[in-house]
Amino acid sequence: MKVLVATDKPFAKVAVDGIGKVLKEAGYELVLLEKYGEKAKFVEAVADADALIVRSDIVDAEIFNAAKNLKIVVRAGAGYDNIDLAEATKHNVCVMNTPGQNSNAVAELVFGLLVYAVRNMYNGTSGTELKGKRLGIHAYGNVGRNVARIAKGFGMEISAFDAFCPKEVIEKDGVKAMGSVEELYKNNDIVSLHIPATAETKNSINHDLVNLMPKGAILVNTARKEVINEDELIKLMEERADLKYFTDIMPAKNDEFASKFAGRYFSTPKKMGAQTAEANINAGIAAANQIVGFLKDGCEKFRVNK
Ligand code: 3PG
Repeated sequence: MKVLVATDKPFAKVAVDGIGKVLKEAGYELVLLEKYGEKAKFVEAVADADALIVRSDIVDAEIFNAAKNLKIVVRAGAGYDNIDLAEATKHNVCVMNTPGQNSNAVAELVFGLLVYAVRNMYNGTSGTELKGKRLGIHAYGNVGRNVARIAKGFGMEISAFDAFCPKEVIEKDGVKAMGSVEELYKNNDIVSLHIPATAETKNSINHDLVNLMPKGAILVNTARKEVINEDELIKLMEERADLKYFTDIMPAKNDEFASKFAGRYFSTPKKMGAQTAEANINAGIAAANQIVGFLKDGCEKFRVNK
């Protein structure tokens, strides 16, 4: 069995070694395609693969059509919006993710971005502290929970809204559960986004929602760029000089954000949330184990397509 690891943004070497070890023990061959740049190289490499491990790499009809032997794709990470699930099902390919494996890394980066934001991007002027500030967590999944845990250490007042997570689950962690998304934005100095990119959430973070936030608010995004209505956020930041937007996913309109909002806008050059050795090891090895479990025992835990 050939397992292709196709990562345009590579895992740490230690994670690749760990994946290799799991696959070797199962008697499988690891084929590594890193920083491939052009999709044609991915299409070529996937042609004889039985299984595939990816990160944010786009796995669409072109890939599935080329991958004649493919049985399973594991997205080593949480969000699987980069994989065409309908095409996978059409080609009889199982798709899985590895939920929770990289969530601490993403949550820690939220605070990296926040400290940078409240300390005025380290420009030498007096900023503010996070202690005592109200933090709203938008979606209380694996990352949201880790954000809440870390925020307690900073002494923040924490609330969350999640349309799918019961109130009791949120409140059990000592986090205030908000009754609506509007309530979350209205009552927090900082909102941290942890929603997936779906048909419902795309463009949902818009002018009117963010405008509910109080003076001096910060929006921090370590989720997906697609959830932001970029034109509306630009319009709002033009209207409100007090707003800051710090993101780990470069917007399509990065140049416009950067030129218009110097000092209150920041984007990492490349998505860094899950870029730690630990997250790479956790997600990569989980992906390898899930492939072995599926191919050897038919285990479908973490399957996300029908
Ligand atoms: C995820 O969905 O797991 C995170 O956004 C990390 O994505 P990455 O593996 O592309 O860094």
